[in-house]
Amino acid sequence: MQIQLEAQPYASIQADALVTYIFDKDDKVEGIIADLNQTINDRLAQLAATGEISGKPLSLTFIHFPQGLEAKRLLIVGAGKSDKFAVTDLRKIAGTALRYLKNLGAKKIVFLAREGHGGPSAVEAVTEGLVIADFESDKYKTDKKEKDKKEIQSVVLAGFDSSDDAKKALEDGRVIGESMNFARDLINEPSNRLTPRILAAKAEAMAKEVGLGIEILDERKISELKMGALIGVAQGSIEPPRVIVIRYTPENARPNTPVLGLVGKAVTFDTGGISIKPADNMEKMKYDMGGGATMLGTMRALAYLKPAIPVIAVIPATENMPGGRAQKPGDVQVAMSGKTIEVINTDAEGRLILADGVFYARKLGATHLIDAATLTGAIQVALAHIHTGAFGTPREYLDQFLDSTKAVGEKMWPMPIDDEYREMIKSDIADIRNTGTGKGGGAITGAWFIKEFVDDTPWIHLDIAATTWADNGRPWLAKGPTGVAIPSLVDFAMKL
Ligand code: BES
Ligand code: ZN
Ligand code: ZN
Repeated sequence: MQIQLEAQPYASIQADALVTYIFDKDDKVEGIIADLNQTINDRLAQLAATGEISGKPLSLTFIHFPQGLEAKRLLIVGAGKSDKFAVTDLRKIAGTALRYLKNLGAKKIVFLAREGHGGPSAVEAVTEGLVIADFESDKYKTDKKEKDKKEIQSVVLAGFDSSDDAKKALEDGRVIGESMNFARDLINEPSNRLTPRILAAKAEAMAKEVGLGIEILDERKISELKMGALIGVAQGSIEPPRVIVIRYTPENARPNTPVLGLVGKAVTFDTGGISIKPADNMEKMKYDMGGGATMLGTMRALAYLKPAIPVIAVIPATENMPGGRAQKPGDVQVAMSGKTIEVINTDAEGRLILADGVFYARKLGATHLIDAATLTGAIQVALAHIHTGAFGTPREYLDQFLDSTKAVGEKMWPMPIDDEYREMIKSDIADIRNTGTGKGGGAITGAWFIKEFVDDTPWIHLDIAATTWADNGRPWLAKGPTGVAIPSLVDFAMKL
């Protein structure tokens, strides 16, 4: 899909559809909208008068063969109340329009910006929205005849700046969107087609393509490094584990900059192990590598966007299987840090592999950590599918990250990590246990477990279990993997 900025007047651009947006109630018919209204003979004002165009969030009004436009159709997307509008909303607006028009068989569309929304951040939001909206989960469908007909070939952005900054923003938006799609594609892969070894090979191909350093630790190296917590999880599977280490090094690195460590849980399939999960919905557990995919997508984007600081990604990858060699409830494992862990529930495996992941990232020089993991079902109880749970210490470090989430328009919510919760992971026979003793607080005890291996390093933990996968499609996004957290992580790394 081509996306380009065009300075030509919108009315004279040939396309299957011209898209723009209006606000709810208080939209003043002035500027571009007044101009458009006049061009099409007052039709907008008429439709507004009859209530047909409302401006309600993501409502759609479709006008065929509008007079005065070269475009064959005009699509008006509702943008909600103007005082609640943020430029990042353009992502959903553009994405909704793309999916709607694509489904109708449109090939070429024009997206028209409103006054004040033509700057670089708007260009970036629209481009990113278009790229992620265009993603479909149809890789394994063999009958693609229908699909081939439905393809948006080009989108022209009209009414935007055509400054160098805007051109750069278009490229940035494309890179972030494509990196999200890269992660989404991995998350979609079934576990028979994405074992830890295959994930490592795909990470390697990506790193080579974008010029990142990569090292894959195999089972021998993992055992040399004494990653006992990861090994405990992996030993139940005939598929050997891998640890994927990717490095981004800035060209003119300043001395003593922070080194950002990104750690992602990549359980390519989580059966629960001996504490086996029920059959219902177990197929979803192919997406238990979502944290790893998130970090791979983030690294891919950073390779293009080139932050000023070094970034190291550490992605422990394994299956969690029952079997004759599997670890059992009650087993004690020794993590790479030397801490001993009583494994109460083999289904709480994500925190085990992250224990060695975050510790290893620190050993490699990370001064600041962020981990992302589909860690707990409990985070869905707390925040439903709306917010990602964000834990962290010190609080200022978490707040800095939350600023990035707001800047890019991702919903994340700060979760408590007070010392009292630490009591709940005390073990009778080892240093800690891998599940909480008390009732409730499952997402928090999960986070506390990881924190045990972080010590004083500034650290953020993102529990993406309920946000990395959407069971229902949304007007701007296909159902399935969402690519959540990548925009925030990229923004944060660029600002750190
Ligand atoms: N991968 C799961 C968490 C999960 C659940 C992700 C649903 C996505 C959707 C994780 O490994 C797990 O099983 N966690 C347990 C922990 C419990 C045994 C303490 C859970 O949340 O039930
Ligand atoms: Zn599990
Ligand atoms: Zn899991």
